[in-house]
Amino acid sequence: MSIVENQKTSIAQTIRERRSIKRFNGELVEEAEIVALLEDAVWAPNHGKREPWRFIIAAGEGRERLLELLQEVSIGVKALEMSPEALEKAMDKFTKPGAYLFVIVDEDARQKQRLEDFAAASALVQNFQLLAWGKNIGVCWKTPAFIDDPKFREKLGVKLGERVIGMIQIGRFDEVPAPKERTPVAEKLTRF
Ligand SMILES: Cc1cc2nc3c(=O)[nH]c(=O)nc-3n(C[C@H](O)[C@H](O)[C@H](O)COP(=O)(O)O)c2cc1C
Repeated sequence: MSIVENQKTSIAQTIRERRSIKRFNGELVEEAEIVALLEDAVWAPNHGKREPWRFIIAAGEGRERLLELLQEVSIGVKALEMSPEALEKAMDKFTKPGAYLFVIVDEDARQKQRLEDFAAASALVQNFQLLAWGKNIGVCWKTPAFIDDPKFREKLGVKLGERVIGMIQIGRFDEVPAPKERTPVAEKLTRF
């Protein structure tokens, strides 16, 4: 088997076996590991060489600051009435990932370019997910409603004319989720 065929097999396997990780084990992930993955992920196709993305990483102390902001936007003042245990439980889904990556896309005023840029950034995110999977780093692409909240955007440092296309949770995991099914292509295929 040629090197190219071998690579194809492993790419197909990684695509099929990758799973979104929704249960992280709390281990931290360093910024350098995320940047190394991004250096490869940015080879995603993008039209007109626009590279319409930028990134905000919250690792280490940045992760701590982000957790405060996530508590503010998801729990708010209700946190004052909660027991420390109840608050810890409510924040569990945010505290277990070891780092966060926000993928920010320029919002072109022209619809064609805007859709192209969104598609290119989505290809980048999938590259990132596959690359991370290859290094036993778990990822989940999240789109909670608060990523469009003006207060959240401002505190995160998102500018006018930009859109957060995903809050990417990154971390280590102990259990691999069960395999998922996909509808056979034959059921989605029309011959012209
Ligand atoms: C654009 C996009 C947004 C997503 N947003 C969320 C989300 O907000 N919360 C969540 O739990 N999963 C989210 N996911 C992950 C999907 O739920 C996940 O991909 C799906 O369950 C299929 O699982 P798999 O990735 O393991 O194949 C999102 C995925 C995509 C592509």
